[in-house]
Amino acid sequence: MSKMSIRDLDLAGKRVLLRLDLNVPMDAGRVLDDTRVRASVPTVKYLLEHGASVVVCSHLGRPKGERNAAFDLTPAAIRLARALRMSVRMAPDCIGDVTTEMAHELKPGEVMVLQNLRFHEEEEENDDDFAAQLAELAEIYVNDAFGAAHRAHASTHAVATMLPAAGGLLLDRELAALEPIRNGEAGKLGFICGGAKVSDKLALLERLSEIADVIAIGGAMANTFLLARGLPTGASLLEQEMVEAANEISAIAQDESCNLLIPTDCVIAHGADEPPRAKPLVFGEEDLPDEWQILDVGPATVEAFAEAVKECDTIVWNGPLGLFEREAFSGGTRAMAEALSKLEDTNTVICGGETAAAVAQFRMTSKMSHVSTGGGAALEYLQGLELPGIAVLPDANDERGED
Ligand code: 3PG
Repeated sequence: MSKMSIRDLDLAGKRVLLRLDLNVPMDAGRVLDDTRVRASVPTVKYLLEHGASVVVCSHLGRPKGERNAAFDLTPAAIRLARALRMSVRMAPDCIGDVTTEMAHELKPGEVMVLQNLRFHEEEEENDDDFAAQLAELAEIYVNDAFGAAHRAHASTHAVATMLPAAGGLLLDRELAALEPIRNGEAGKLGFICGGAKVSDKLALLERLSEIADVIAIGGAMANTFLLARGLPTGASLLEQEMVEAANEISAIAQDESCNLLIPTDCVIAHGADEPPRAKPLVFGEEDLPDEWQILDVGPATVEAFAEAVKECDTIVWNGPLGLFEREAFSGGTRAMAEALSKLEDTNTVICGGETAAAVAQFRMTSKMSHVSTGGGAALEYLQGLELPGIAVLPDANDERGED
């Protein structure tokens, strides 16, 4: 069911409360990656070009209901102003008299940014009074925070019931890319799954092993699958307690005729800070001595993964294949990104903050069909869960969208 969109609204002269996900990685007040800021720009521009004024709200980090300078949204607001090429006013708070007055003084074409919503514990409590104070700032509510859509918080949920509400252009783009995958309507589907833990991805793996044609598992989570198959894992990071779950996923994949691949070779070292052994270890050819750790997939594994997914119509990739932040262990993730970047007619969908960061680090973002701005939200959506921030928005034909 499609949701009410900003394209369905009369915005002229209206003040819009726009929920964005400006939860960007920061270091000492410096924005390290502004992907989410840039992804928010089309909606802000659309609203301004259609005669609205815009009150932007977002969370940043997890300040747990207390004001904390480390989670000040001002640097993200400055990035937004730069991306919009216009000045943007910063409110001292997200509610209160001064903020409300500032919002009410906004003229069409102007933008202000509220201070971090999570400086108030009522935000995460989905508190109605707090939401009502946010609602007082504007006449229309727009949610474009796909990355926070899995949270039922005051700014993503309660406030949407208090104003005419709609989704923004980023929300539309994310759903257009992810909905066919979730519904099993994305053609022949390949899923490349990496990252540290099977336990984090269990529900997603269970769901996708039912609908995918190929699943290729790398990263530290592959170690649990290796152990489950009786292969040597040395001192590698793994989850002993997930061995049974790994076997169950392999069994579902077999029942569903899904080709499930695990690494056949790997890059090993005595630890993440140690240099890798020059020669990758090939399973079956030699044992992995107890003190060695698997820190990346090997070249034969990436080749096999690339070969297996190349006939797919859609490839979803979530989770790096090795410790890509360290140059010495980034080869597998880089080679996988390169292989995907060369597939011209394939719908390549990147999900999860780390995978998006890896693809950006290798300067291949523009070569992918879609890089989701949602981490947890994208994974929950793909595994079939309802996202409260989207569910609460009126359907396209619902009168609640407009006055
Ligand atoms: C994210 O980065 O995944 C979103 O901004 C949600 O943040 P949260 O996990 O702190 O709610």
